[in-house]
Amino acid sequence: MTATTADSALAADAAAGLWQDPPVLPTKWLYDERGSKLFDEITFLPEYYPTRRETAILAAHAADIAATTDATMMVELGSGTSTKTRLLLDAFAARATELGRAFTYVPVDVSEEMLSGTADVLEADYPTLTIEPVLADFTEPGLRLPETDGPRLAAFLGGTIGNFDDSARRVFFTRLSEALSPGDYFLLGADRIKDTGRLVAAYNDKAGVTADFNKNMIEVLRRGLDASGLYVDDFDHIARWNPKRHRIEMWLHARRDVHAHFGALDSDWTLPAGAEILTEISTKFAPDQLAGELSQAELPVVETWTDDAHDFQVTLSRR
Ligand code: SAH
Ligand code: TRP
Repeated sequence: MTATTADSALAADAAAGLWQDPPVLPTKWLYDERGSKLFDEITFLPEYYPTRRETAILAAHAADIAATTDATMMVELGSGTSTKTRLLLDAFAARATELGRAFTYVPVDVSEEMLSGTADVLEADYPTLTIEPVLADFTEPGLRLPETDGPRLAAFLGGTIGNFDDSARRVFFTRLSEALSPGDYFLLGADRIKDTGRLVAAYNDKAGVTADFNKNMIEVLRRGLDASGLYVDDFDHIARWNPKRHRIEMWLHARRDVHAHFGALDSDWTLPAGAEILTEISTKFAPDQLAGELSQAELPVVETWTDDAHDFQVTLSRR
């Protein structure tokens, strides 16, 4: 993605979203270079339990996942730093060596710097594997997975599935299912509904890292759309539990009237004090909810694993 295509895609999303009531922006714009680094910091915060829980699940079951799927390729959507993924790569690399065959890892992400930096490090750390990074938006139609001889494993970790609303999630499962061949697998990490206090704390940490991450969206808009009159400090980070839709919602709350001009859109934009922009949702799931949705998309679940506290789950589906 060149800067120009990224900026024109941002312009299109801003034009479509900022004049809605409430204004919304696609989550992926949170992950520029700075945003990706802030997200990585989030995964180490004491309040942010999902990464630790999912890591424990993968540590316990990686060898099982490698043996059950017998995959020769793993395609990971929204791979980020691929940190937890190393548990799977270790298991697949050991198996590939044992059986004397090749294994390819395909990290897919929109964050260009994060993707290429991670691929370089993985190439050095996993000399027996082929690393094939792909810069792509996993919400785009026509998602295509690289071909290989053996079964493929698609992985979608970190609870990122929660960042889709119900209808986008259905579309995502259907498209992914169509991109997979019968016999391929899908590994999905999802966060479960739990105590509201813990959920809200995970998205509103004491150190303020999540607040900086959310407010970085304003900086992305300012730079990418050549804005004037738009200031990060005019917004507060809000993380709110929506009990009806069982999801955390991340908002940017205007502290005062905002009057901005977007050079790239040739437009003025106003937001009254107290109004809010929706930047992210993180849906939480009942234990059996996703199994039903996955089987409707012809991705029936063959295994479900959880952590000791039953906070997070990982399911393995077979197309
Ligand atoms: N899998 C990692 C990172 C999760 S954060 C983990 O579990 O910790 C979500 C990741 O998805 C980020 O790396 C972000 O850059 C990427 N991402 C967000 N929206 C995306 C999109 N539409 N297409 C591709 N990648 C996306
Ligand atoms: N996929 C992550 C999640 O839903 C993304 C995330 C974590 C996030 N903390 C955030 C997104 C704060 C926006 C703001 O858990």
